[in-house]
Amino acid sequence: MEKIKRIGVLTSGGDSPGMNAAVRAVVRTAVSNDIECIGIRRGYQGLINSDFVNLNSISVGHILSRGGTILYTARSEDFMTEKGRKKAVTTCKMLGLQGIVAIGGDGTFRGALELSRLGIPVVGVPATIDNDIGCTNYTIGFDTACNTAIECIDKLRDTMQSHERCSVVEVMGRNAGFLALYVGIAVGATAVLVPEHPVDFQKDVVERIQDSRLAGNTHFMIVVAEGAGSALDIGKKIHDSIGMEPRITVLGHIQRGGSPNARDRETATRMGYYAVRAFAEGRGNCIIATQEGSIVEIPIEEALQRKKHLQMERYEVMEAMQVSRIRHTEE
Ligand code: F6P
Repeated sequence: MEKIKRIGVLTSGGDSPGMNAAVRAVVRTAVSNDIECIGIRRGYQGLINSDFVNLNSISVGHILSRGGTILYTARSEDFMTEKGRKKAVTTCKMLGLQGIVAIGGDGTFRGALELSRLGIPVVGVPATIDNDIGCTNYTIGFDTACNTAIECIDKLRDTMQSHERCSVVEVMGRNAGFLALYVGIAVGATAVLVPEHPVDFQKDVVERIQDSRLAGNTHFMIVVAEGAGSALDIGKKIHDSIGMEPRITVLGHIQRGGSPNARDRETATRMGYYAVRAFAEGRGNCIIATQEGSIVEIPIEEALQRKKHLQMERYEVMEAMQVSRIRHTEE
């Protein structure tokens, strides 16, 4: 690759806490390597529409701690078409962008791959609260989202305990249960339902509540990933099976907002730094990933083929934490 003088940075797909920290790191690393950095607004749609903003070290000041993304984000339908992608390439050429740092999740990286095939070098930075990107142990925003969910569920537990109720809480995760399972373990859920694990309602929900009740509990917390079913339906089924009247909470987009925590700020900063280093050292078409705490570069084609499986070991841990009626009566 020729020496890079100007790059673009964009955020795309669902936002996540820490995206701004990554943008800041990209811009400041670029500046210190004599590379200009242009912010592309609204993801790939911004590339198509030539929607950009000049960024410098000062303009990305004070965004490290801000949730959301100052560059806005979008899921571009136009970029799914050949015509749209050609327009995006034209914008890159017109602005003199020799590379794009694309911050986002799976869809963002698929878009990045298309762009790379059209001759625009890309480096991807994984950011999604779902933590479901195959090539990386960690994605920016996951830890903050887990902590937001935990804070909400702890509050719910207080009132569920007072009223001796059952709570069904729906957390995000259309295709993946990483957030639900992690949060479920951290709040001591009675049951956790994830898309990766076929739900046996009787065994996974009804019997768990019954066992918990027989062991002396009077309130119950069911955590469900949105991809495993709707909290409302699960609440109705619980009512029909055992007569309880569960209270339903859908945490929704609150999980995607808020100031990124230390882990997300630090990871985003390191990933943004290494993304620009890759360009500065003449590499591109890769995803910046974490593996065992270190930052690594993975070629984009290979990165997109990697799959990440929910660690069923975590599911076992969650199950092992259930109060056991048998042990209880033996004591
Ligand atoms: O960012 C990923 C994600 O949070 C999924 O877990 C969720 O299903 C989806 O985004 C919802 O996104 P939106 O409502 O913004 O389309």
